[in-house]
Amino acid sequence: MKILVTGGAGFIGSHTVVELQNAGYEVAVVDNLYNASPKVIGRLEAITGKTVSFYKVDIRDREGLTKVFEQEKPDAVIHFAGLKAVGESVRKPWEYYENNINGTLILTDVMRKCGCKNIIFSSSATVYGDPAFIPITEECPKGTCTNPYGWTKWMLEQILTDLHTADPEWNVVLLRYFNPIGAHKSGTIGENPNGIPNNLMPYITQVAVGKLEKLHVFGNDYNTHDGTGVRDYIHVVDLAKGHVCALKKLEPGSGLSIYNLGTGVGYSVLDIVKSFEEATGVKVPYVIDPRRAGDIAECYSSPEKAEKELGWKAENGIREMCEDAWRWQSMNPKGYED
Ligand code: NAD
Ligand code: WQD
Repeated sequence: MKILVTGGAGFIGSHTVVELQNAGYEVAVVDNLYNASPKVIGRLEAITGKTVSFYKVDIRDREGLTKVFEQEKPDAVIHFAGLKAVGESVRKPWEYYENNINGTLILTDVMRKCGCKNIIFSSSATVYGDPAFIPITEECPKGTCTNPYGWTKWMLEQILTDLHTADPEWNVVLLRYFNPIGAHKSGTIGENPNGIPNNLMPYITQVAVGKLEKLHVFGNDYNTHDGTGVRDYIHVVDLAKGHVCALKKLEPGSGLSIYNLGTGVGYSVLDIVKSFEEATGVKVPYVIDPRRAGDIAECYSSPEKAEKELGWKAENGIREMCEDAWRWQSMNPKGYED
């Protein structure tokens, strides 16, 4: 079975390519390298010992994408390609709607014209907005997003659902990720944010490696056990394995399925700082700053549905997540630029 991975040179996509190849799938990658390095492909091949068919193609390039489908004839698509920076999406909403929504419309049009109607889509816990209840099950109503990035996920879930409703030959899996962190054990692939990181773990690793002076903790007056925001952090390799398990929901007649991919455990910002220091022996200086606009107090999943229906469960704990994030950062202080 051949899987086409859009955005396969990015953080989650690259880890998923490894797990797909380890599980015996043939893989082709499409990525425009807007937020990824071409070095990733060589590193993937070094990890798995297998070749990766790589196409530097933008998913909005209908002609280029059609050629890839004609050449590769994939059975299914795992669709990671998109823009993902929350703050940037507030400043550049048009670019986010254009890339994420238009890109997915063109991708799915090419797919149906080439007879491939199986897709796994990278959605996000952000679609729950400020969640109606916690732990968040898949039945939790979708909420109000606080930024254009979140709305693209919200809308794309609806678009893919409507495609399936109109044409039941489409098999669609919507995977709602919680907070992916960590890196492959080899320390050769990992998260490589542009500029100053927005997300907590890359910020911490850059403080630890000396690139940034101290962590700014965004608020300590939330209604949580220590006042700082609580999230469900998940090891990116566990997340990647979730995609391999989700492929079984693309069998003919599977229809539409939705799964949370999280651990079910919430950690506060200060819990993460402490876990990182314990796991690595490196101190992370921090200051308390005001709350960040749009943040919620607490967000963690109920991962039960994925366990029951996909046989998938996150295996790595917070210690491994910190150790592996640190191995990647310390072996590659400049990311893929080294
Ligand atoms: P990433 O930026 O590392 O990977 C996305 C990849 O898509 C990049 O390699 C980029 O170059 C590529 N890309 C972007 N636009 C493209 C286009 N038009 N054509 C071809 N390639 C394009 O991000 P990631 O963290 O690996 O996230 C992967 C997916 O998961 C994204 O859709 C993201 O929104 C979603 N997601 C991420 C998180 C997270 O915290 N990292 C959480 C929930 C959901
Ligand atoms: C985690 C916690 C911050 C940075 C975002 C997106 C979400 C999803 C994952 C894609 C919060 C605190 C952070 C810092 C801090 N992405 N923090 N100092 O906000 O849960 O989710 O990434 O879909 O859509 O919104 O993740 O890592 O930014 O923040 O105190 O420098 O760490 O306030 O409590 P978040 P995060």
